[in-house]
Amino acid sequence: MRVIILGATSAIAEATARLYASEGADLLLVGRQQAKLDAIAADLKVRGAVRAETAVYDLAAPENVRSALAQFCATLGGVDHVLIAYGVLGEQDEAEQLTDVAEEILQVNFNSVAAWCLAVADVFEGQARGSLVVLGSVAGDRGRRANYVYGAAKAGLATLVEGISHRFASNGPRAAIVKPGPTITPMTEGMNRKGALWATPEQIARVARRAADRTGPVFYAPGRWRLIMLIIRNLPTVIFNRMSI
Ligand SMILES: NC(=O)c1ccc[n+]([C@@H]2O[C@H](COP(=O)([O-])OP(=O)(O)OC[C@H]3O[C@@H](n4cnc5c(N)ncnc54)[C@H](OP(=O)(O)O)[C@@H]3O)[C@@H](O)[C@H]2O)c1
Repeated sequence: MRVIILGATSAIAEATARLYASEGADLLLVGRQQAKLDAIAADLKVRGAVRAETAVYDLAAPENVRSALAQFCATLGGVDHVLIAYGVLGEQDEAEQLTDVAEEILQVNFNSVAAWCLAVADVFEGQARGSLVVLGSVAGDRGRRANYVYGAAKAGLATLVEGISHRFASNGPRAAIVKPGPTITPMTEGMNRKGALWATPEQIARVARRAADRTGPVFYAPGRWRLIMLIIRNLPTVIFNRMSI
């Protein structure tokens, strides 16, 4: 199994890479920090990865997505699974005041990810197989004042991946959007992370790994978030507006 991970230094991506390593996969880890990538690659080899290659790339500012992806595939001699994990939460308050900040949140979490997804979709369609798994968020299910710019990007991503999954429906490849709830990773450092609703990267990783092999296209992580978000999406606006969530 040849697996490309875009945003491989993310805590959730690293936990997912460990699952692939235990299956003896060939991995290409793409991120923007060589030292971090090297450390993760060394650990994955110890855990069973047959290969753990690295590539440094600013994924949010791709110059030529298709040729970069072709290079990534060539490194592994082909590709079976792609996981897209990178993202930034950003500061909602700043995004409301400064156009640049809002644009950056949208560029990192939606525009650039969409470009990679579309390029991967063409490769998978061409070979009539392959699994694309993208990390979205429950924040995309209903806009909340705390993080609606980030949420809007993740909502767009969910629609895009659902569309790719529909495009693939009759010809072999899969596409899935995994929507984690709040997770204890560097992204949420500084938040009050106590309580039963917080998950570990390993919990999310198990869902992301399974998502590559199943027909979704939408996977909540952990699974209880499907019910929670069903309720939140259907709360009447008068009630929702009185809640500080
Ligand atoms: N943690 C949560 O509560 C939560 C909840 C729902 C969804 N998610 C989603 O899960 C995914 C993984 O996040 P995480 O929780 O694992 O957070 P994380 O550990 O903070 O990882 C975020 C990763 O994104 C990378 N990144 C950001 N901008 C990049 C760029 N321009 N080019 C390359 N890499 C870039 C960062 O790279 P550097 O190491 O170089 O900074 C970092 O590795 C994200 O898409 C996030 O939106 C997280």
